[in-house]
This record gives sequence, structure tokens and C-alpha cells, in this order.
Amino acid sequence: MADIVTIAHFSDLHLGPIPRPKPWQLLNKRIFGFVNWHRRRRSDEGMDRLEALVRDAATMVPDVTVLTGDFVNIALPQEFAQARHWLDARFDPAHTMAVLGNHDAYVPGAINAARTTFADYLRGDNGGPLPVRRIGGAALVGVNSAVARPPHLSSGRVGQQERDALLHTLERLGDTFKIVLIHYPPDQDLARGRRGLDDCEEVREVLAAGNANLVLHGHNHRPSARTLTTRDGEALMVGVESGSSDGSHYPPAAYNIYRINTGDGAVTMEKRTAIAANTISNETFNFAPLNTA
Ligand SMILES: [Fe+2]
Ligand SMILES: [Fe+2]
Repeated sequence: MADIVTIAHFSDLHLGPIPRPKPWQLLNKRIFGFVNWHRRRRSDEGMDRLEALVRDAATMVPDVTVLTGDFVNIALPQEFAQARHWLDARFDPAHTMAVLGNHDAYVPGAINAARTTFADYLRGDNGGPLPVRRIGGAALVGVNSAVARPPHLSSGRVGQQERDALLHTLERLGDTFKIVLIHYPPDQDLARGRRGLDDCEEVREVLAAGNANLVLHGHNHRPSARTLTTRDGEALMVGVESGSSDGSHYPPAAYNIYRINTGDGAVTMEKRTAIAANTISNETFNFAPLNTA
């Protein structure tokens, strides 16, 4: 079935401010993230830009909004509660699909709290091994790559079980336009070693063997667009800026709108950038049909 599917892609919201932690909550890796956050994101500027982008995205009336992780900063329980409240006021879980990032799994055990808190956004249409949502002639597949790591390490891992589930899911989707949501870029040139995906090569093999069409990711807080040769064509892999960047350490906050022709696989991407809290710029990119199989 040929149709146009419209997707808004936000990532790395790193919602702030961080609620005041109890002293004992900082007796672990969180202390580093807490100090860092206060050094870098003290102003409200980033959140103001994010609010402008969210209002802008609503006017685009996307079929679905996807969020590729790092909702919070240091995974405090009070941060999760605040983030869920924030999301619910702006997005409808029925039309929003998310995966988690390393900051949502910042300390051991945090990912379980994140999974519970954001369950309505992480879920698929039904109970397969991985969450899948069908949108017209496309399907979204959520892959978890976030794991707790010691201080100064922010690498991720999908793991054998989840990779097997991804391959099975992609194969089962057949000719559907397959969109994979993952926090980390599956590309060693974009993130490697201490901040990359441990099993990057294995994940790429699965994306290729399963004929993924589009991979949407975050983590780098910088824009990127790469291709990956798949069994029958090419997958486009797009990374988006942080939705709440004030522009001082990373490119300014932005989100992407993809319009996908699921018949021929052509993708048009509009990048909407908050160059200030009250000014959004627009840039359009056209990607040729990627998989004609
Ligand atoms: Fe991030
Ligand atoms: Fe990240």
C-alpha cells in the first residue's frame, strides 16, 4: 500500500531542571552528571527552545512522533516522574513511540524505573518480542541499546537476545517500510569506544539482513545522515540534534520531520531548528528511494 507517512523525530530532551536530589542519591555516578548538568545547562534557554519546537511540531500534524532516548539526565526517580508529567502534557502516547537512552539507564536499576515510567510510550501495538507500531504502510520497531555503565563510560549495547528479536521482527515485517528506533548511532564513525555501541557491527549486520529502510537515532546531539547497504538496497540512518540544546555546547535544538512515500521509499526530511526560543529555521533534504525491493 503506497501512502505518505509523516513522522516527527525528537531526541535527547534531557528535560530540566533536575529536581533537587537527596544527598544519598548522589553517592554514585550521578554526582558527575549532576555537577556536569549544573555547569552546562543552568539556563532555561534550552527548555524554552524545546517548548517552541514541540509547539511547532504539533502544527505539522505528524502521524506519529518518535523520541529516541535520553529523556532525563541522571535518572533520579523524581526526574522520571517530572519527565512523564511533561510528556503527558504535550504528547499522546497513542501517537508517540519512544526508546530509552543511556541517561535513562544512568545507574544500576534505573532502566527498570524508566521502563515502568514510560511504558505507554515504549510499547508496541501487540505483544511481540520487540515493540512494533504500524503506521499506514510503515512499521516502527523500538530497540533498546541503553545499559547502566560505571562513571565516565557512556557506551551502549543491544545484546544478543534483542538483536535476534530485531532480526526476527524485521523479517516478519516483509515488504513493509521498516523504521528502527535506537538511541545509539549504529555507526562507529559517529560514536565508538567509551561512548559508542559495543555491538555496533553485529547490529549493522542485523539491520542489513533484515532489510531495514530507515534508522532513527540520537545520542550524539549532532545531525548526521548515513547509509547502510542492506540485503536488497540501502537503509538511511539519521541522527537528530538534542531537542533542548541551547546552542552553547552542541548545535542548537532541532527536530526532524520525515515524509515517507512507503510505495517507492523516497524520504523528504525537514529539519526544524530553534535558532532562538522564538525563531525556528527550516531546511529541506530529499533522499532518493532507498529500497525498491
Ligand atoms: Fe543525550
Ligand atoms: Fe545518550
